[in-house]
Parts: sequence; structure tokens; C-alpha cells
Amino acid sequence: MSTDERFRAVRKEYERDSLHEGSVEANPLVQFRAWLEEALKAPEVEPNACALATVGPDGKPSLRMVLLKSLDDRGFSFFTNYLSRKGRELALNSSAAMLFYWGSLERQVRIEGAVEQLSAAQSDAYFSSRPRNAQLGAIVSPQSEVANSRLDIDERHSALVASTGNSALSRPAHWGGYCLRPEYIEFWQGRKSRLHDRIRYVRDAGSQWKIERLWP
Ligand SMILES: Cc1cc2nc3c(=O)[nH]c(=O)nc-3n(C[C@H](O)[C@H](O)[C@H](O)COP(=O)(O)O)c2cc1C
Repeated sequence: MSTDERFRAVRKEYERDSLHEGSVEANPLVQFRAWLEEALKAPEVEPNACALATVGPDGKPSLRMVLLKSLDDRGFSFFTNYLSRKGRELALNSSAAMLFYWGSLERQVRIEGAVEQLSAAQSDAYFSSRPRNAQLGAIVSPQSEVANSRLDIDERHSALVASTGNSALSRPAHWGGYCLRPEYIEFWQGRKSRLHDRIRYVRDAGSQWKIERLWP
């Protein structure tokens, strides 16, 4: 079978569920939480994983996966290295977009807005809650820099493990959280014949959420 034929063989109709502007929550964060709860119970590998898009100084987009670590009235928080490519891009342009895809539920959610760094206290609290291995990884990695070799990475990690022993580890200043404050959230539910349900929430001038249906 050619690759094109195999693509045709995995094509599927979406018929699991539907979404109606009359019955969604008035607040998209409440709606998101309801879908996330379902995704956490579904056979998804990491339901809190999302693609995060940022914009480079040349106006070009870049994209990578991150893990959503907290969700509150302000927005969607994740943690990373502030000096990584995404960190450097966000420092120059705070616009970002997130995409969650839950294939088993035939759903995607698109979120757009601007990010803000979390407070040092919030980042400290999250850092101290991480397993030691993850703390060591965050400390040792100048994320997104060119590495000499895998051996160099492993040796620098081993040296850090040996030099820190069992002592408590502090969060490096260049590692911490961001919160994406949503201005636009779109919920997509797959439907039959590619006539999917798309319900978008946009903030109006008075900061109220306006709910609209989009053509699929
Ligand atoms: C499922 C998944 C989850 C990830 N979660 C994170 C995360 O929460 N934070 C992070 O810095 N990198 C995470 N990564 C790694 C990033 O995708 C990326 O490789 C890294 O952050 C460097 O990206 P950058 O060079 O664009 O800054 C994750 C990767 C995968 C596949």
C-alpha cells in the first residue's frame, strides 16, 4: 500500500459528540475545564499537553509542545526556560497561541492571547514541587543552545548530581512559569461529513465573552 493509500485507510468520520452555542458555558475557562476533565478520563497519553506557538523577531511562527500545569481565572500556565527559543521570542513579543488536541474525543481547542511571566514565588512553589530529577534537568540545561555532544550533556548532568548530593535545589532565575491570558478560545468538536461544530469566544470591549458559531 502506498502512503497515500494508507492515509485514505485511516480517514475517519467524526460522530462521537456535538457542541451547541445554546448549551456551552458562558465562560470559556469553565467550558475548557469541563473538556479537560473529560480528556483526563479518556485514553489520552498526556491530556495536558498542548502545542505552543510563538512569534520570532522576523515575524515567523515557531511551535513546540509544552505541558499545561495550572488553569485558573487568569489563564493557562506552563513552565520553561526563559532563555530558551520560546522564552526569547516571548520576551520580544508576548503574543502566543496554544492548541490542545484530544483525538479520542474528536476535539481540539485553540487559545490565543498574550503571556505574562508568573511571579518568582509562583515559579519557586512549582519548582520545589517537581521531582529532583526534573529539577536537576532544568538546572543543567541551557535549553535551545547548541550542545557539543550527548556525552557533554550526560557528563554535565552527572557532575551536577555529584556536586549537589542530597542538598535542596533552588530554582534558577532563568527558569519559571508563564500564564497565557486568553483573548480568543475556540472549541472544535468533530462532526459527520466534515460539518464540524466550531464555537468561538472572543472578548469584547467590555471584557465580556461573545459566543459565536463558525462555519466548519
Ligand atoms: C509532550 C511534550 C511536553 C513538553 N513539555 C514541555 C514543557 O512543559 N516545558 C518545556 O520547556 N518543554 C517541554 N517540552 C519540550 C519542548 O517541546 C521543546 O523541545 C523545548 O521546550 C524547547 O523549545 P524551544 O527551543 O522552542 O524553546 C515538551 C515536549 C513534549 C513532546
